[in-house]
Amino acid sequence: MKNSNILVIGGTGKTGRKVAERLTNLNQMVRIGSRNESPSFDWGEASTWSAALEGMDKVYITFQPDLAVPGALEAIEGLVKEAKQSGIKKLVLLSGKGEREAELCEQVVIHSGIDYTIVRASWFNQNFSESFFLDPIIAGHVALPKAEAKVPYVDTDDIADVVVASLTDDQHNSQIYELTGPRLLTFPDVIKEISMATGRNIQFTSISLSAYTKMLEEFGVPTDYIWLINYLFSEVLDNEKNSIVTHDIEKVLGRRSKDFSEYVQETVITGVWNQATNKDEKVVA
Ligand SMILES: NC(=O)c1ccc[n+]([C@@H]2O[C@H](COP(=O)([O-])OP(=O)(O)OC[C@H]3O[C@@H](n4cnc5c(N)ncnc54)[C@H](OP(=O)(O)O)[C@@H]3O)[C@@H](O)[C@H]2O)c1
Repeated sequence: MKNSNILVIGGTGKTGRKVAERLTNLNQMVRIGSRNESPSFDWGEASTWSAALEGMDKVYITFQPDLAVPGALEAIEGLVKEAKQSGIKKLVLLSGKGEREAELCEQVVIHSGIDYTIVRASWFNQNFSESFFLDPIIAGHVALPKAEAKVPYVDTDDIADVVVASLTDDQHNSQIYELTGPRLLTFPDVIKEISMATGRNIQFTSISLSAYTKMLEEFGVPTDYIWLINYLFSEVLDNEKNSIVTHDIEKVLGRRSKDFSEYVQETVITGVWNQATNKDEKVVA
């Protein structure tokens, strides 16, 4: 394998961290793109991009907070333009599953004239242990809308493996991969699995999207974030195309994708779900 200099944007985040680790183990030279590195990379400050791109051959792009937010398209256009000027030879874009705004960003990468791979991912398993669903799980009470929606959650280990293959092997050039896990789960299914594994009695309550939005407002969640949550729960969870299990992980990696229960078994031993604050919570036998 040829050695390359690879910028991993969001390289301390859920997928970026694992991509950076794997690339380093393959003797690739990795630069982390984040606001806390030197040189720093900030999506909100276009003036930081060129220093982060300088001397790099390839880039893994994870946008913050989401390709669907206003301004994302302009940011991706700007970054791709700078990448071209810097002589970048390969772009791998982490995208969502079929949201129109994300597809417009994909088109910018596809028509950049630079070799590319698009990696479209379903919702991550790790949203329940490293992101917005963790706090209610710790509190022992999860209230969410769209309880009936079936999601083929995908593991960030599998995403990272596909991204690394795409960055290091030209056979993945010009491909759009759709990554899902092997099984559809509803929110109540997820909470049941985590309850069983932790031995905790975590409650699930189905609420309307408007009640959820109101609850987030009462908790002082920023308006932009509430907009994004609303978008994700309506556009992503309401789209039946997103409830289809795909087999691209197997196609790329030659092995099956990680099941949600494997993720739960690996995560429960870290203790992240057992910091229960509710002393009255009954323990499941
Ligand atoms: N979560 C999902 O289920 C899911 C599913 C499909 C697609 N995606 C896509 O995956 C991407 C990453 O989302 P994620 O939730 O998994 O986040 P994440 O990668 O865990 O985000 C954290 C990373 O982003 C960096 N970061 C945060 N704000 C930044 C900024 N303004 N400029 C530069 N870097 C910044 C952080 O470093 P610093 O804080 O040090 O800057 C950190 O490295 C998003 O585009 C999302 O749409 C997510």
